[in-house]
Amino acid sequence: MADMQSTNAAAPAIIRRLDYRPPDWLVPDIALDFDLDASATQVHAVLSIVRNGTHDRPLRLEGDGLLPVEVKVDGRTLGPEEWALDGGTLVVPLNGQSHQVETRVEVAPDSNSKLMGLYASGGLLCTQCEAEGFRRITFFPDRPDVLSRYTVRMEADKSRYPVLLANGDPVEKGDLPGGRHWARWTDPFPKPCYLFALVAGDLACNADRFVTMSGREVALGIWVREADLPRTAHAMKALKDSMAWDERVYGREYDLDVFNIVAVADFNFGAMENKGLNIFNSRYILADPETATDLDYDGVEGVVAHEYFHNWSGNRVTCRDWFQLSLKEGFTVFRDQSFSADMGSHAVKRIEDVRILRAAQFQEDSGPLAHPVRPESYMEISNFYTATIYNKGAELIRMMALMLGWERFRASTDLYFESHDGQAATCEDFVRAMEEGGGIDLSQFRLWYEQAGTPHVRAMLSHDPATGTAELLLEQAVPPTPGQPDKKPMAIPMRVALFDPASGRHQGDQLLMLTQAKQSFRFEGFSSAPILSINRGFSAPVIVETNRSQADLAFLSAHDDDPFARYEAMQQLMVNVLIGRIGGQAVDEDAVIAAIRDTATDPQLDPAFVAETIRLPSEAYLGDQMPVVDPDAIHAARDALQQRIGEALEPLWRDIHAGTKANAFSLSPAAKGARKLRNIALHYLVASGAQDGPQIAFAQFHEADNMTERQAALATLANGASDEREAALDIFYNRYRDDALTLDKWFQTQAFAFHPNTVQLVADLREHKDFTLANPNRVRSLFGAFAGNQWAFHHRSGEGYRLVADCIIALDKINPQTAARLVPPLGRWRRFDEARAAMMRAALQRVLAEPGLSRDVTEQASKSLE
Ligand code: ARG
Ligand code: ZN
Repeated sequence: MADMQSTNAAAPAIIRRLDYRPPDWLVPDIALDFDLDASATQVHAVLSIVRNGTHDRPLRLEGDGLLPVEVKVDGRTLGPEEWALDGGTLVVPLNGQSHQVETRVEVAPDSNSKLMGLYASGGLLCTQCEAEGFRRITFFPDRPDVLSRYTVRMEADKSRYPVLLANGDPVEKGDLPGGRHWARWTDPFPKPCYLFALVAGDLACNADRFVTMSGREVALGIWVREADLPRTAHAMKALKDSMAWDERVYGREYDLDVFNIVAVADFNFGAMENKGLNIFNSRYILADPETATDLDYDGVEGVVAHEYFHNWSGNRVTCRDWFQLSLKEGFTVFRDQSFSADMGSHAVKRIEDVRILRAAQFQEDSGPLAHPVRPESYMEISNFYTATIYNKGAELIRMMALMLGWERFRASTDLYFESHDGQAATCEDFVRAMEEGGGIDLSQFRLWYEQAGTPHVRAMLSHDPATGTAELLLEQAVPPTPGQPDKKPMAIPMRVALFDPASGRHQGDQLLMLTQAKQSFRFEGFSSAPILSINRGFSAPVIVETNRSQADLAFLSAHDDDPFARYEAMQQLMVNVLIGRIGGQAVDEDAVIAAIRDTATDPQLDPAFVAETIRLPSEAYLGDQMPVVDPDAIHAARDALQQRIGEALEPLWRDIHAGTKANAFSLSPAAKGARKLRNIALHYLVASGAQDGPQIAFAQFHEADNMTERQAALATLANGASDEREAALDIFYNRYRDDALTLDKWFQTQAFAFHPNTVQLVADLREHKDFTLANPNRVRSLFGAFAGNQWAFHHRSGEGYRLVADCIIALDKINPQTAARLVPPLGRWRRFDEARAAMMRAALQRVLAEPGLSRDVTEQASKSLE
């Protein structure tokens, strides 16, 4: 085996979708035995393997940072010449059709700062395997199309690790001499190794029960530190609601006797759907009124649902290879979005989801890291857990559901689940199920999986009074993206309605299919020119440009019966004023102020919807509307308009603020809506420059019985310079200094503030004794928030770029996956003026020049410079 080449770490290999080959060896069964210890855990694995097809290739088991202590085949220990390490991969030549292969390795959880594989977090031992963390635990064919039945035995010190959890059902446990104990779990469902999990630690359990639709009882457990038990009620409610919802809406029943969730403080992303043992970032489990905002509560509900829904869309039907990631993620995001809409307001949920899509995915799709929902290649799969795979992927499912209608969509998902249960499937399998179950041809629609870039749709409505005909001309263009210079026209479902301005009504909502580059649609029976409501409900994830006047938009902002389109009309009205002002034109602000007043005083409207609608578009969204982003001009124009709105409607803001003061905390939609509206009223009131603004904000901060109002008041104060600002930040810090999740908000609020000194404040906070690169939540709360603060991050000095690049370089040595997440904001240099672009490129080059840079950061930084 001496001729084995080792891979060169300096030049990461490119993995290509079209190179997919079925696995050479299958592993129907695996038995794992863990002797758990924070600094030295022994892992003994017994794999029963079967040759897959006719070939003479050796067995290759991936490993990352592992050295075999022992390798056995069919009970015989192999000599060192009978196996080899190729890079990290263990290569064993074998003659038979099936064998039993055993390996022993030792791993050190407490020095695993990457948080992939088996690691220590606050006294716990836990695992994260998706996408390729299992190879950091034991040698294995670490690919999602190898499905195995797992038996897991864990042994540990009983006082340190009284609770031992793994996938599936607990089968046996016992005590051992020397204060040790053990437990065995088995998972009857074959699964890919990325769904493997174990947890050991001193945990308390919120235990509950769920009876499934066929009458089976499931034991539910949410495991946290004892002190956190009172903060788990919302997560438990969300779990039971999700289980019932998936039965009612998709006919999907839970399949094991136990379902456990564990919350951990150090986690690279939101949560993980390991079979029967979900592991969560504690921020998506723990919530109480004192420390969690309404947004946090919604986050808990949405992520608990997301991970639970993966039991079918992800676990029972998994992915063949990682290029198919959106098969499970896009579908599951669509499912969790629908669930949250059903639990609260459909209108508000859609607005929030589109805002996230535009802020994260549209930006990704227009930059150097743009990739299709089903990518063609990658260097490091961790970099592809993106807004495109998740959120655009969800939009693709939503479009198919819209084109099919709910009943045919549901018939198609039934077909999909039934025909691929227990299999590793592809996006193509999903689309084919939609075609067969729905009786529809999706040939052109498949381009949504292949072509990156956000389509632009130009909509021109014209009217001929002589014939009473309105004509809608739609033109589409998909911009070039890396590796895809020329694009074909897509199949774009556009929901439209034409309003008669006299009656304020329309003749019905229509679904138009735009399938050509240019297409026109005729509508009869309009004696006067109608007003166009388009992309209603945001039926397609595209950018729409129209020839509608400010008067048309004002009309729609008051009359559109589609809540998303009504919100959109108001936002567009604001965008037009702001972009005009930035370009030096004197665009009339009064229409915006009138529309805000009318919306805010309309008693028919849900306060949560009002709050969403009267909010100004973000600075980043305004930047997206400009050929070259000018952060200072955007900030100045938005700030000025905010002040104007504040002043012009000051009595209204005072009224709303006083009138929405609640007596006692409740999570009812009405109470949540009132808080949302109250916070925006406070925001405008302070923006007006009213003398007593900071005092009113401070009073809200001080008196609030919930974090939603307290944090909003703090954020409002953090924007300005006042004594109240310093006092509130001090009080907040001292009150929550020992509560990591809440202290994150203290960092985040300052990093996100519209304060002229934000860059310096962030530099100082980086040196704060409570800042650490070891905890991803803390890093995101300071540097993630800062990189999303357009005005501060793009400070003309370039200091913002330097801070983020320094953080990437330092963090890469500890946790490459989280470091790589900070690269994309620097990669947007093409969108800025030459001076900024040069400094952003220099920051990326400095990162790339760092010796020993990870594959994760190398891929993101090098692609960002192309
Ligand atoms: N499957 C998980 C979820 O969406 C996320 C896993 C993320 N993995 C990663 N390497 N970024 O629920
Ligand atoms: Zn997911």
